[in-house]
Parts: sequence; structure tokens; C-alpha cells
Amino acid sequence: MKLLNIALDGPAAAGKSTIAKLLAAKLSMIYVDTGAMYRAITYKYLQQNKPEDYDQLIETTELSLTYDKDKGQRVILDNQDVTDYLRENDVTNHVSYVASKEAVRTFSVNKQQELAAKKGIVMDGRDIGTVVLPDADLKVYMIASVEERAVRRQKDNEERGIVSNVEQLKQEIADRDQYDMNRDISPLKKADDAITVDTTGKSIEIVTQEILALVHKIS
Ligand code: C5P
Repeated sequence: MKLLNIALDGPAAAGKSTIAKLLAAKLSMIYVDTGAMYRAITYKYLQQNKPEDYDQLIETTELSLTYDKDKGQRVILDNQDVTDYLRENDVTNHVSYVASKEAVRTFSVNKQQELAAKKGIVMDGRDIGTVVLPDADLKVYMIASVEERAVRRQKDNEERGIVSNVEQLKQEIADRDQYDMNRDISPLKKADDAITVDTTGKSIEIVTQEILALVHKIS
């Protein structure tokens, strides 16, 4: 099979990372979770008590992704593995704001493009098909109802020992989508040539098969 780049975009908690991981494993490709980069910068922003100078924040930031055979993608921020802190509520609730800043986006997009240069990448995010990899071989825009996304997020949280309220999750997810869709720089939107996959009511297995069928059409 020729080397491909696959872009997977969509709103929060639509199942992108679960599906992207499975696709990458089945296709022997590398999965890149770009949200984790924005989350790592947000983690640093919070650690530094919310500085307003984003150029300075970025100038002092070293960020790299490594791959662990068992644990998958790890995020190394200023020589520290911060992966386990990136799903904390505080990070989730500030990430859209930090990710809307130009210095943060330029830095992250450059890194993502470097990672994808050799091809063989499944990359998920918000602007992958529109900005990061406009020439991706396959672009998927994954959606699901906000109710279903909140219930899935609640289950994920439960597995990590976190009790959460579905109504509150629904509100947080909807707010984050609004912010991501309405920011000035590379807002979340479907690329013209992306294929929409609605995952509402579908199992992980079914969605994976659906996207694999799209991959096989182009390879
Ligand atoms: O995918 P995840 O929920 O981890 O992304 C966290 C946040 O990072 C998103 O809500 C969005 O604000 C930002 N993001 C982005 N562009 C990407 C990936 C994530 O702006 N390519």
C-alpha cells in the first residue's frame, strides 16, 4: 500500500482519537493526536499562572511527541512527560482559549507538518484537513450528537475514576465547539473535500470499518 496521510477532524469528543488509534494500528501508520499539543501548552500556561504574552510562552517551550509501544503517544514538554496531566478539567476548560492564540497555533502547526512530512500518519484535530494537511490523501470529518458525545465522555471519565454529570459535560462540549468554530485563526470546519462520518449510534467497530473502506478506495 502506498504511504498515506489521513486527516480526521471534528468537534470535541466525537470519537476521533479512539478511531484514529485503531486505524493507525490496522494500517501500520502512526497516530498523531494534535489536541495533546494544545493541551500541553495549556498545561504550561496554567502552571505559569496564565501569562498574557503568548510569544514569550512559546519561545520558552520545547515540545515533542514520542511513541511508547504500550502507552502510545507521549507528550514531552520542557523535558518532562506531561501526558498524564493533559486530560485534567482545568486543562480541558482552558485549552480552546489558549489554542486560539496565533503564536500557539503557528508553533503547533509547524510541528504537525514536520511530523507528517514523511507520510504514514493518521492525524486528528480541528484544522488538519483545512490548514495542517490540505493535501491529505483522505479527509474525514467526524460528528456525533452532543448527547452521545457527553455520554461517551462520561464513560471515559468513569474508567479513569472520575465521576461526572452528563448535563454539565454536554454544556462543556457545546461551549468548546462554539469557541473552536468561531475563533479567527483556523476555526473548526469541514474541509470542502472531507467526507462526513456521523458516528451517532454506531459502534467503534462499525465506524472503523466505514473509514477503512474509504482508505481502501484510495489505496
Ligand atoms: O482533541 P482535543 O479535545 O484533545 O483538543 C483539545 C482542544 O485543542 C480543542 O478543543 C481545540 O481548542 C484545540 N485543538 C485545535 N486544533 C487542533 C486540535 C485541537 O485547536 N488541531
